[in-house]
Amino acid sequence: MSAVRIEEVVGDFISLKKRGVNLLGICPFHNEKTPSFNVSPVRGIYKCFGCGKGGNAVNFIMEHEHYSYPEALRYLARRYNIDIQEEERSPEFDQEQMERESLLAVTEYASKFFIKQLHETDEGRSVGLSYFSERGFTDEMIERFQLGYSPEEWRAFTDDALAAGYKLEKLEKTGMTVVNGERMFDRFRGRVMFPIHNVAGKVIGFGGRILKSDAKAAKYLNSPESDIYHKSKVLYGLYQSRKAIVEKDVCYLVEGYTDVISMHQSGITNVVASSGTALTQDQIRLIRRYTKNITILYDGDTAGIKASLRGIDLILEEGMNVRVVLFPDGDDPDSFSRKHTTTEIFAYIKENAKDFIRFKTSLLLKDVGNDPIGRAGLIREIVETIALIPDAIIRSTYVRECSNLMQIGEDVLMSELTRIVRKKVFKDGANEPQTQAQTQVPTDDVPLEKLIIDERDPELLNRSEHQEADIVRLLLNFADELVTFPAQYEEDGRTHTVNVQEQVKSVIVHDLEPDDIAFENPTYGAIYQMFRSQVHENRPHAEGDFTNHPDAEISRLAAHFLTIRYPLANWEDRGIFVKDESKKLAHSVFSALYSFKIKHVERLSHSNREAIKTASEQGEDVEPLLDKQMSLDRLRASLSAYLSIVVLR
Ligand code: CTP
Ligand code: MN
Repeated sequence: MSAVRIEEVVGDFISLKKRGVNLLGICPFHNEKTPSFNVSPVRGIYKCFGCGKGGNAVNFIMEHEHYSYPEALRYLARRYNIDIQEEERSPEFDQEQMERESLLAVTEYASKFFIKQLHETDEGRSVGLSYFSERGFTDEMIERFQLGYSPEEWRAFTDDALAAGYKLEKLEKTGMTVVNGERMFDRFRGRVMFPIHNVAGKVIGFGGRILKSDAKAAKYLNSPESDIYHKSKVLYGLYQSRKAIVEKDVCYLVEGYTDVISMHQSGITNVVASSGTALTQDQIRLIRRYTKNITILYDGDTAGIKASLRGIDLILEEGMNVRVVLFPDGDDPDSFSRKHTTTEIFAYIKENAKDFIRFKTSLLLKDVGNDPIGRAGLIREIVETIALIPDAIIRSTYVRECSNLMQIGEDVLMSELTRIVRKKVFKDGANEPQTQAQTQVPTDDVPLEKLIIDERDPELLNRSEHQEADIVRLLLNFADELVTFPAQYEEDGRTHTVNVQEQVKSVIVHDLEPDDIAFENPTYGAIYQMFRSQVHENRPHAEGDFTNHPDAEISRLAAHFLTIRYPLANWEDRGIFVKDESKKLAHSVFSALYSFKIKHVERLSHSNREAIKTASEQGEDVEPLLDKQMSLDRLRASLSAYLSIVVLR
């Protein structure tokens, strides 16, 4: 345990950024978009403030890799080159606790076998190696990707592995050997071999490419699903590319094994492939641990375009940023990067990377031209994609871009967006068992204006609904986002200032709780209470809890607040990734809180003045009421002072 460094162990799986003495990253144990996963090198522990998971390096490996305690110890021992003395393996041990390990041992052994075949046999050299050199793969790439060769024989690998003591059952479970009644044979025969690694660098499966152009056999043969290989949860090249992905803060997504290798050979090492499967949500989440930015690099053919469109929607839904680069017809990243220099490839990517709006527009505008119905259809399609984005601010940024590009008013787009989000809310709700509240959902849309409180109404002058709405809006849009703000504390008679980092929802709840100020608007109050229990129970925020809430008023307001344009002026021109986003957010949060409190104090002050009037009319003692008035006025003044500091800072 003294050799183990928690930041290294965790750092093998997720990217960590320094935050003071600690490190911070995206939690691998729950679905989050802003980092709340803390690692303390000094204390040797990790803790997620979003989902509450925490522990030491052993706990982390057990949790992350689904290992038993001894498996986790073995993993750490290997990670730090520490020999451990094991008792002889019992068959039980092999079957139960070592099941995964034993399958990994087979694939590891197979990988070594294929590498040896490639370099040390005549067939391997004359067939396999010469194929790789024909394709222009350097020795360095063959080594980096541990490429190999499976001989053109029925049982070369199976016989070798059995002789080395591996059990047939394991060979079959990994898919390396096909067992058919009495007969058994190698799955991979006469193919060049691409081992597939998990993020920890273990070989979990293979892709094998046929060498001759045989129309009957599949070009690529892949390992079947097994206890160690789930193809929808794996990205080819992630192990070799993850460092560069973090450094470049963008991940290039390609289709095939050879695309990844050729790009690496050109010096572009932040590349992964979904290889053979349509991109999945799990694969996108895997990338999200390293970066929020994905650039899709696909062929410019119909299949490539279709796959790009599907990828765009999936990536946006995960709250990530996506760009698309299509290669000239007939080229994939592999062939393109072999024909061009690194500078040319970068230039091509830079010039042709389009965000999804430009991508869709350029794709469809040719067909649509100026036909108004066609344009409306295209606009609707773009807005439907925008509606998938979970973050309201990013949504509004894209609305603006779409407005500029398609020459259509932002308000028109916004109302269309609201309509789509609402429809989604009601449709999703309809899938759940019908509750009484749901059957009351009106079918006609209530005009948005009715949901917006009119400040000019004198009746509402002293009420705090507007401020409550602001707080609820911040909660719904930024609940789990972290804000940094200075906090002061007294020590040795001096005031010290430290920077504190906290989630928006917990800042709000912890600030309002001690005074227990009631919300005037019951629906805002109910939404606030839902966030309060979220904070107390340490649960991450889920938009669906609100947008799908059985209380129609709550779901409607949630949909509303998640779609209205952000009203603060200073947010208007911001890009998506402004550095001081969390600082600005902190300002919004504190100004909302102070404004709310000021309204509350004003209300107390108002009724106290009434009380003074009544008391003096009836000749009662007004002294205590006057004292109270003075302290309320002082409180009002200091809150205003705070507010102006916050707003001006
Ligand atoms: N693929 C597969 N099975 C196939 C064809 C393709 O699993 N029968 C997967 C492979 O992972 C392949 C990727 O889909 O790398 C992309 O396919 P394709 O573009 O046809 O192959 P390339 O990567 O271009 O391979 P090569 O250049 O060797 O032809
Ligand atoms: Mn190719």
